[in-house]
Amino acid sequence: VQEVRGKVVDSAAGLPDAGVIELSRLHRAAIGRSRSELTTPALILNLDVARRNIAHMAQHMSTTPAKLRPHVKLHKSPQIAHMQMDAGAIGVSTATVWEAVVMARAGIENILIANQVVGREKIRVLAEAAHATLITVAVDDAHNLDDLSAAATATGSKIGVLIEIDVGMGRSGARTDDEARRLATHAGRLPGLQLLGVMGYEGHCMLEPDRELRVIKAHAAMEYLLHVVDTLAAVGFEPQVVSAGGTGTYDITGRNPRVTELQAGSYVFMDAFHGNLVPDFGVALTVAATVLSRHDRLIVLDVGRKAIGTDLMMPRPAGFAGELVFLNEEHSGFDVDAACPLGVGDLVELLPGYGPTTVNLYEAYHVVSDDTVVDIWPIAARGYGALAAL
Ligand SMILES: Cc1ncc(COP(=O)(O)O)c(C=O)c1O
Repeated sequence: VQEVRGKVVDSAAGLPDAGVIELSRLHRAAIGRSRSELTTPALILNLDVARRNIAHMAQHMSTTPAKLRPHVKLHKSPQIAHMQMDAGAIGVSTATVWEAVVMARAGIENILIANQVVGREKIRVLAEAAHATLITVAVDDAHNLDDLSAAATATGSKIGVLIEIDVGMGRSGARTDDEARRLATHAGRLPGLQLLGVMGYEGHCMLEPDRELRVIKAHAAMEYLLHVVDTLAAVGFEPQVVSAGGTGTYDITGRNPRVTELQAGSYVFMDAFHGNLVPDFGVALTVAATVLSRHDRLIVLDVGRKAIGTDLMMPRPAGFAGELVFLNEEHSGFDVDAACPLGVGDLVELLPGYGPTTVNLYEAYHVVSDDTVVDIWPIAARGYGALAAL
């Protein structure tokens, strides 16, 4: 429990007590130690770099009409969300209702669940959480709107709604402007809901490594989204919120004068995948590993797939030269130069290929400043998030 921005934040709320106490004992023993003396695998958050990333994004967003609503699915941490709010974010985006509840309990106001919430229990939790703070959810189905309206009416709360539009990603979202108009008309008539706008996440553009092509694709996606916004006028609906964007398009979608909110999240930590796309931010997240075995040019580390995410891109060495040879459940192997001095017991760090699925494997961050562990922050909404929210 700690005080953040004048509010008491119990970011470990709901976690099993005994486990938390034992784990935090292990973690807390690291406070004051050098980052090269950790019990591994350990997730290292470089606070100095994260602060610079937050400041860089805040500075950029101060020059754009759109406001920042950072996605917290990457960090799942109330402490980092509060740092982003302090730097001018208007609220946060989440992937799940559980993440939204964890953030709301930690005092974050104005939350967008940038995803569908489906299923009786999750909708009930959403409706109840919407008493305390404005919670908005993305919707692309009329029956889902009915269910949200019924739950909000039953609990006496109001749920914000964005009509999600598929802008080319082919995931969720209304496929035609006619479908969007029908959904908006329906949402506007239902009690318990507040129809606020549209969302169109251009996720297919985030994977485009060629900057010029990414710009073209992102512009096309927003052009389509704004065309749908224009056609909504025919049913008397003028969206106040037009929400889109991620780290790969932060300075493309984020500069569109008609986009009101940017959902970028990965910029805070970065990873090998996002570093290739957007070199403007520094790497704030690494995984510490110990050399378990060395034979000739092969070093074997105690970090495998259970300790580092492998989506989109494989992990890379950070601060030593080597080529990944294998990544097993509990081990990774790197081919290093014959002259490389690393031996059994030495600590190294790895740069995750993808941040969100790496963070999700850990209970806590080792928060490092000036190469020293200064704090331990729980990954409060880890897993799929329900444990901490219930
Ligand atoms: C709906 C939505 N918005 C925003 C983001 C954030 O993107 P990034 O992590 O690239 O900043 C994601 C990422 O998957 C997403 O699914």
